[in-house]
Amino acid sequence: MNSRAYITTPIYYVNDRPHIGHAYTTTICDIWARATRAMGTDVFFLTGTDEHGVKVEKSAAARGISPQALADENAAEFQRVLATFALTNSDFIRTTEPRHTTQVQAFLRKLVASGAVYLGTFEGWYDEGQEEYHTENRARELNYKSPISGKPLVRASEQNYYFRLSAFADRLSQHYADHPGFVRPAERCNEMLGRMRDGLQDVPITRTNFSWGIPMPDAPGHVVYVWIDALLNYVTALGLGSDDVSTNGRAHYWPAQYHIVGKEILWFHAVIWPALLMALELPVPRCVYAHSFWIADGQKMSKSLGNFIDLPTIERYTTTYGLDAWRWYMATQGPIAATDSDFNAKHFHETHTNDLVNTVGNCPSRVGAMIGKYFGGILPGDAEQGGSWPSRCAGSVEKWERAMAAFDLVGASRCAMDLLRQVDAMINETEPFKLAKDPANAARLASILNQCAQVVRLAGVLLEPFLPIKGRELAMAFGGVPDAGTPWDSRRTYGVLAEGTPIAKVALFPRVDRPIESVPATPA
Ligand code: MSP
Repeated sequence: MNSRAYITTPIYYVNDRPHIGHAYTTTICDIWARATRAMGTDVFFLTGTDEHGVKVEKSAAARGISPQALADENAAEFQRVLATFALTNSDFIRTTEPRHTTQVQAFLRKLVASGAVYLGTFEGWYDEGQEEYHTENRARELNYKSPISGKPLVRASEQNYYFRLSAFADRLSQHYADHPGFVRPAERCNEMLGRMRDGLQDVPITRTNFSWGIPMPDAPGHVVYVWIDALLNYVTALGLGSDDVSTNGRAHYWPAQYHIVGKEILWFHAVIWPALLMALELPVPRCVYAHSFWIADGQKMSKSLGNFIDLPTIERYTTTYGLDAWRWYMATQGPIAATDSDFNAKHFHETHTNDLVNTVGNCPSRVGAMIGKYFGGILPGDAEQGGSWPSRCAGSVEKWERAMAAFDLVGASRCAMDLLRQVDAMINETEPFKLAKDPANAARLASILNQCAQVVRLAGVLLEPFLPIKGRELAMAFGGVPDAGTPWDSRRTYGVLAEGTPIAKVALFPRVDRPIESVPATPA
C-alpha cells in the first residue's frame, strides 16, 4: 500500500433525499478509509453533492424555490447524515462551490484548446431521467426504454460541444489490457469491455435547453453537461491542474486509489472519465469499483413503489441495533460484489444475533469474565508464550491487510471473526472453568486466558474500521490503550498486552428481542 491514498464516493444528487444507496456507498468507503488509515497510510476520503442539471432545476421550480436554495437545503441534509453515521470523510465537495466551478471552466478551456472538445451536432437516444445518451445498439438492447425508470428513450438532437471520446478508444483498450484490475469486479469489467466493443461515440458535453449548470467558457447559452461537471469533482477537490486556482496542497493524492460507485454509473467512471483524464494529460485512477444494488424484501427499490429504505427507516435500525450493527450489515451483507443484496429485517436481525451478539459480543465478555473471576481482572502471564497463536494471528492479520487493500471488506471481516471463533473454540476445548477447580492447573489456566485476551484485543483492532464505536469500547476494556497514534506495527502484533494489564468485562452487543417489521412496499 502506498503511503497515501485517495478514495471517493460518487457525489450525490441533491434532488433526492438521502437513502440506503447513499448510506451504503459512503459507509463502505468509510470502512476502507479507516482501515487504511489504521495501517499508517495518509488517506483522503472525499464525498459530496452533485448540484447542477435539469432535474434540480425542475424540482426547484416545482417547489417555487431557486435551484441554489434547493441545493443548499439538500446538501445540508446530506452533511447532517454524514455526521449521524460517524463517517470520516476528509472533505465534502459541492459542485456549486466556486472552487469547483472555476476549475471546471479551466479544464474545459484546456480541452477546447487541445481539440479534445469541439462544436458539432448530435442526434441520439436520450434517457431524460438519467440525462444520458445511448448508442443505437445499446438503445435497441434496452428496448428503447430507460433501464432505470422504464420510460421510453426519446430521439433528441442538439448543437453542442462534444468530447472526442472516439479518439480514445485505442488508449482505453490498451489501458484495460495493461491494468486488469482497473474496473472491478471482473463481471463489471467485462460488461464495460463489451460495451466498448460496440464503438465509442463522441459525447455531447454541453446543453442549451436549461441554464442550471456551469457556463461553458466562451460559449454563451451553453452550460456544461452535469456528468462532466460532476466527474471533475474528483480532481477539483484536490485543486488539481487548474492554472487559475491556487493549489490547496492536495494534488499529491491523485490518482485515486478507488472510485467506489454503483453499477448504474460505471460507464461514466470507467470509460468517459479515464478518457477525459487522458485528454487532460492526468493520470487515471487505479481502480473503479462498482458495487451492485440493495433491493428491499425481494423487490427493486424505487420511488414509485415507495419502498426505498429511506433515512427514517435507517434510523429505526440504528436506534434499535446501534450504528455499528448497521455498518456491519452494510459491509458484510451488502451488494459489494456483482450481485444484488436483499435488505430484509429478519436477515438483519439474524446477522446481528449471530455475528455481533453471539460472537463479537459474547467472546470478549466470556474472556473478560473469566479473567475477572480467576485473576481479579488482571491479565495473568503466559509461560507458553502464545503457543501457536503468534503465527496464526500473523497469518490472519496479513490476510486482513490484503483483503482491505483489495477492497474485499467481506473477506477482511471474516479474518476478524475467525479469530474470535478460534478463541471460542479454544475455550470450549480447554474448558478453563474446569481447570480452575484444581490449583495445580494455575499456570495452564493463566496461559489460556492470556492467549484468549491477546487474540480478542487483536480481533478488536481488525474489527474497528467496521465497528468504530464498539471496537473502541473493546480496546478500552482490553488494555485501555488509546489506539490513536499507536503505530500499526505494534497494533497488528500478537501479544502486546503485558502481564498485569487490567481487563474489564464488556457487554458490547445486547440481544435485541425481535426483528423490526419489514417496511411494506406501499405506493408513494
Ligand atoms: N450524481 C450521480 C453521481 C455522480 S459521480 C461523479 C449519482 N448520484 S446518486 O445520488 O444517484 O447516487 C448514486 C449512488 O447511490 C451510487 O453509488 C448508487 O449506486 C447508489 N445507489 C442508489 N440506489 C442504490 C441501491 N438501491 N443500492 C445500492 N446503492 C445504490 O448517480
